[in-house]
Amino acid sequence: MTKKSFFTRRLILLFGFGGFAHIVVLIMRRIFIQIENRQLWAKYQTQTFPVQGNSTLRQRAANKGLIYGVAVRKSALSADTHLEEIVTRECGIIVPEWELKWNFLRPTPNTFDFSQADWLANFAGQHQMLFRGHTLVWHEKAALPQWFETTVNHENARQILITHIETVVSHYAGKIHSWDVVNEAIEVADGREDGLRNTPWLEFLGTDYIDIAFRTAAAADPKALLVYNDYGLDYDTDKDRDKRTAVLNLLKRLHSQGTPIHALGIQAHLSGSEPRFNPEKLREFCHQVANLGLKILITEMDVDDQDLPLDISTRDHIIASVYQNYLSVALEEKAVVGILNWGISDKYTWLSASKPRYDHFPVRTLPMDVDMNPKLAWNALAYTFDHASKR
Ligand code: XIL
Repeated sequence: MTKKSFFTRRLILLFGFGGFAHIVVLIMRRIFIQIENRQLWAKYQTQTFPVQGNSTLRQRAANKGLIYGVAVRKSALSADTHLEEIVTRECGIIVPEWELKWNFLRPTPNTFDFSQADWLANFAGQHQMLFRGHTLVWHEKAALPQWFETTVNHENARQILITHIETVVSHYAGKIHSWDVVNEAIEVADGREDGLRNTPWLEFLGTDYIDIAFRTAAAADPKALLVYNDYGLDYDTDKDRDKRTAVLNLLKRLHSQGTPIHALGIQAHLSGSEPRFNPEKLREFCHQVANLGLKILITEMDVDDQDLPLDISTRDHIIASVYQNYLSVALEEKAVVGILNWGISDKYTWLSASKPRYDHFPVRTLPMDVDMNPKLAWNALAYTFDHASKR
């Protein structure tokens, strides 16, 4: 055997073994998670959510000085009378799931189309509901118009951003409860020390783009609650811990430079499996945010059931428990003033597409089922609101 082939064989062996060991570790990890999950899910089956009376979530929340609502799509709300019935019954606030994003509002760089969002704003007004805005600044490509990539550059970015915020915020001034001014600006994995996500806005305007956005919004509507909104803040994992730290640092920076920011939006896209929920961490985080003088909104709550057991009663129990365990801790913090689900019925949830069940059966993530009947998740919310302290 030549010297070269001897080394090649040793390398192949080494890598082969390394790869094999890696796969074994992954399988073992999966097995441990499954065991942990099963124990947790069994515990959840014993949780109960006794609810008295037949008040709506809107009323139960309002009794405690809280606002409850959901995200809606005009296309569904205008066509589905059952959906309309439960939204008007259960909600004190609605937020457009799509219609206030750039791709809906700005067909061309110089034109705005408010028709769809206005329909929702009017709907809210007609039913004595508050209306909230989502979102003025978001990097997500799917929510940006096609012209964005070819049109926005270093020279015009500032003006395009300011024009957008001035036009949109003043259009709804006086009629809007709150604005998600900047959405998802933190991505620790992008490797910057300040944790900011690499987005076109950061590239063109530097870290100031966040301050510019808030100041412009405040000038256009001095009454709206201005919110920084983000996800991945919920769990006791290294990733979520780093994100909480980066978000807190951002909030502190904005606070110290006098940026008009009033609240943090915690999206709370929760997980039914491997949740690693630690009440202490969430409690501490909410407290730190409140100490900066900021309010907190839970803005997009849902629970993915991707690999939960298929059995409906078991699954609904797990999902309800996840809602209750999370929300009861969040609501201990008096700075939390509102809770919104990202949709109200399983018939219309983004999770059907973005996190479908591995077995492809329909997801059961929201308070109402596909026929608009309340599920145990509804009871969990009602129970949690009933037990929250008044603010
Ligand atoms: C989602 C919508 O629900 C989807 O229908 C759309 O395709 C993509 O956007 N965080 C956010 C929301 O801030 O805007 C996202 O909404 C869900 C995650």
